[in-house]
Amino acid sequence: MENQSAIKRIGVLTSGGDAPGMNAAVRAVVRAGIYYGMEVYGIKNGYTGLLDGQMELMTLRSVSEILSHGGTVLHTSRCPEFRTPEGREKAASIARVFKLDAIVVIGGDGSFAGAKLLSELGIPVIGIPATIDNDVGCSDYTIGFDTALNTVKDAIDKIKDTTYSHERCSIIEVMGRQAGYIAINAAIANGAEICLIPEKPFDLDIDVIQPVLAGRSRGKTHFIIVVAEGACSCESLAAQIKQKIGITPAVSILGYIQRGGSPTVRDRVIASQMSVHAVECLMKGVVNRIIAYKGERVVDIDIEEALTQTKSIDPHTLLTNQILSL
Ligand code: ADP
Ligand code: F6P
Repeated sequence: MENQSAIKRIGVLTSGGDAPGMNAAVRAVVRAGIYYGMEVYGIKNGYTGLLDGQMELMTLRSVSEILSHGGTVLHTSRCPEFRTPEGREKAASIARVFKLDAIVVIGGDGSFAGAKLLSELGIPVIGIPATIDNDVGCSDYTIGFDTALNTVKDAIDKIKDTTYSHERCSIIEVMGRQAGYIAINAAIANGAEICLIPEKPFDLDIDVIQPVLAGRSRGKTHFIIVVAEGACSCESLAAQIKQKIGITPAVSILGYIQRGGSPTVRDRVIASQMSVHAVECLMKGVVNRIIAYKGERVVDIDIEEALTQTKSIDPHTLLTNQILSL
């Protein structure tokens, strides 16, 4: 399609923690960009690669067979230099050297905070939310969340078999340093007795010990406690449970298994839709936006406004887990 827009050449990068579906997003940015007559440069290693000028022209074929792969073929990084004004000035000048008319940033809130500062230096940007934590304030959904949740669901199902058979208590740590979306959804999906999240400080006696004792008195023989990594230390929680009620919980830390793997249908489809929308914004000259998922629709929001938006776990979701763990 003939490109009537002023935006003829774009860069795309992935930044922050990798998330399943980032490749689907890269593929869709490249293919939609080429469809609309743009040149698309793949920038390696997030903002680090922008600073180093590590980028190459992408083709339709350079993104074939990546849709189903986890991780990110562009690689990703955390880039301390980009946090400095000098670093961002340098990044902006490199973008100018490569004649990039805009940069598509696939990542989380931190990456978007950086993108906004880059836009203030005259480099137009568009953000696409991708993080397994689902904690981008302006979007109901972030790419990678569904895949991570399904990985966690499978892992807890397996741990639960042993927990049930041996009549034990298992503490399972899931990712989420600042957000409990994975934890609470996994707790509901796996029928966990207790769920601890960083957003809601807990009282050991009221929120852990008493429910375990009450469950025991109702005949429960096994317990699953799901803990988001930012809520507390699982080892110390296990020690306190042992000290208070004499049972020795087994701790499983799921770690990076949650961030890898082939993306689910939901992540592939949403990543593709968000990315085509991002390129279509650029075609219309609409820049400095974050693509968001709101009420099952893909929309775009001004980046400054998007960064002020917050979201939180509905208290009724927490109650739902409590009700069902009886
Ligand atoms: P995420 O994008 O998943 O939230 P990070 O918070 O680690 O991941 O951010 C990724 C990168 O974005 C950082 O390493 C840094 O280069 C850049 N970044 C994050 N926050 C800022 C900020 N406030 N100002 C400038 N750059 C930032
Ligand atoms: O990708 C999200 C996330 O996994 C968070 O839950 C976690 O706090 C963080 O990234 C850890 O990432 P890293 O080990 O790469 O610093």
